[in-house]
Amino acid sequence: MFLKLVLLCLCLWRLDGAFGDDEVKRVKEGDSVSLNSGLTEMKDDDVILWRFGYKNTLIAEINVTADRFTVYEDVLDGRFRDRLKLDNQTGSLTVTHTTAEHTGYYRLQINSDIKRFDLRVYGVYGEFVSVNEGDSVSINSGLTEMKDDDVIQWRFGYKNTLIAEINKRADRFTVYEDVLDGRFRDRLKLDNQTGSLTVTHTTTEHTGVYKLQTNSVIKRFGLIVFVLETVMEGDSGSLNSGLTEMKDDDVIQWRFGDENTLIAEIYKPADRFTVYEDVLDGRFRDRLKLDNQTGSLTVTHTTTEHEGDYKLLINVEIKRFRLAVFDEVTSVSVKEGDSVSLNSSLTEVKDGDVIQWRFGDENTLIAEINKRADRITVYEDVLDGRFRDRLKLDNQTGSLTVTHTTTEHAGDYKLVVYSDLMMFSESFSSKVFRVSVYDSVHCCGPTEAVIRLVLSALVGVATVSIVVYDIRSRRAERDQAHIHTSGSIEI
Ligand SMILES: *[C@@H]1O[C@H](CO)[C@@H](O)[C@H](O)[C@H]1NC(C)=O
Ligand SMILES: *[C@@H]1O[C@H](CO)[C@@H](O)[C@H](O)[C@H]1NC(C)=O
Ligand SMILES: *[C@@H]1O[C@H](CO)[C@@H](O)[C@H](O)[C@H]1NC(C)=O
Ligand SMILES: *[C@@H]1O[C@H](CO)[C@@H](O)[C@H](O)[C@H]1NC(C)=O
Ligand SMILES: *[C@@H]1O[C@H](CO)[C@@H](O)[C@H](O)[C@H]1NC(C)=O
Ligand SMILES: *[C@@H]1O[C@H](CO)[C@@H](O)[C@H](O)[C@H]1NC(C)=O
Repeated sequence: MFLKLVLLCLCLWRLDGAFGDDEVKRVKEGDSVSLNSGLTEMKDDDVILWRFGYKNTLIAEINVTADRFTVYEDVLDGRFRDRLKLDNQTGSLTVTHTTAEHTGYYRLQINSDIKRFDLRVYGVYGEFVSVNEGDSVSINSGLTEMKDDDVIQWRFGYKNTLIAEINKRADRFTVYEDVLDGRFRDRLKLDNQTGSLTVTHTTTEHTGVYKLQTNSVIKRFGLIVFVLETVMEGDSGSLNSGLTEMKDDDVIQWRFGDENTLIAEIYKPADRFTVYEDVLDGRFRDRLKLDNQTGSLTVTHTTTEHEGDYKLLINVEIKRFRLAVFDEVTSVSVKEGDSVSLNSSLTEVKDGDVIQWRFGDENTLIAEINKRADRITVYEDVLDGRFRDRLKLDNQTGSLTVTHTTTEHAGDYKLVVYSDLMMFSESFSSKVFRVSVYDSVHCCGPTEAVIRLVLSALVGVATVSIVVYDIRSRRAERDQAHIHTSGSIEI
């Protein structure tokens, strides 16, 4: 088993507009970090305020006139307790023993000057998983069996909320479904052999860090839930905020890509709608439509440049989208009853890869090879069982074969490959196959047979050119593998 160390960060955003000059500080969980005021000494009448988070909570204050140095350790549920040090010469602030919950914006106010720090605390996790909204995900405890006196707890989020517990001695399995406003209600399953936790019907609210705690070990897992949207090149991709209307004090931001570039913003208190079309070399120019009722974003005339991860920030909530833009469609036609093979074009599935086959407009997951969790799954029960006993997944190449086809199996099959390229980021590539199923009865008129022959020849030519294109683009891709990286895995 490979154990990957992947770093995740809990990034919250300041919400009342973008500052270009934030000082970004990165720190590994557990370490200390100093936020430097920039002063060499304080003046007699200085008043220095340190604030944290989107609510600008006051966490430390210096009043030189009164010779008063104060840290407010009880705010924000005590997350800064015994962790703040104020330098009495410079007014700089040090946060010690950092955890993910110290990630965020720190605002330093020296009299009327304001300076901001964007602190990112990275945790080290044994495993991280990203899934599409609606999917089920099993978080593997790594235990093969439980011992008689085991107490196993699953906790979620920076508040370490208890969501499930196994008390082996009492033979008690408990899921706490009402915590966190019921976001886990009817969604948690505990494996009574291994203690593994399954979250079903995931939504973006289940993104976060899951902590497994037993008598002897603590393990952490990062889960990122995306909404996958797929679109053909040239078409519009709609990213739905899920809101029916905005509230008067809503602040909504859309951010794109690894650098979390701000591309659109709604500042409702001032009724201000802004799209930032000049960022990223203008790739979004004349292409962004912001719905003024719901805050949803539409990217029109998509190209593969618009493929990637989008983050929607609604006040403090973060919702993630992954937009896949298909620039080629491989058309395949198959006679009813026959098998059709969809060639992934991969020669091998590498460690850290996740390969998913999705079907239809709803992008229903039908098959998956997950090398991170060492798991191969075909989802036979989805879509009323229309794929039951019909899917063969090649565990070397990820190619999919559908056997005994019926007209129900006609449609778009989307292959999405997530690669674990390097720390902090995950790349993905995608491909679509349009399968048509013709029934043998209609196939045999002489004219139609000729048309079919011509069509197959054309499809053949098209396939060849796609393969050539694919090889070429793969080569190009390989050459610039470090550039073709989308999908930041920041939590
Ligand atoms: C700082 O302390 C002085 C003396 O106690 C007081 O007059 C002043 O109002 C304080 N300033 C602030 C901003 O609290
Ligand atoms: C500043 O802090 C240092 C060490 O913590 C201490 O020795 C010194 O007395 C302090 N100075 C003032 C003016 O409070
Ligand atoms: C574990 O769960 C399975 C199915 O849910 C059940 O049949 C089995 O009896 C359970 N085993 C124990 C030890 O509780
Ligand atoms: C919202 O957009 C519609 C159509 O684009 C426009 O007619 C309307 O005036 C806009 N409303 C506001 C409040 O901007
Ligand atoms: C699948 O595609 C790859 C590369 O495009 C090719 O080498 C391989 O022969 C194909 N496999 C089948 C079974 O057609
Ligand atoms: C992959 O498939 C081969 C042949 O179908 C099988 O023998 C092997 O056990 C499979 N490997 C895994 C990891 O499932």
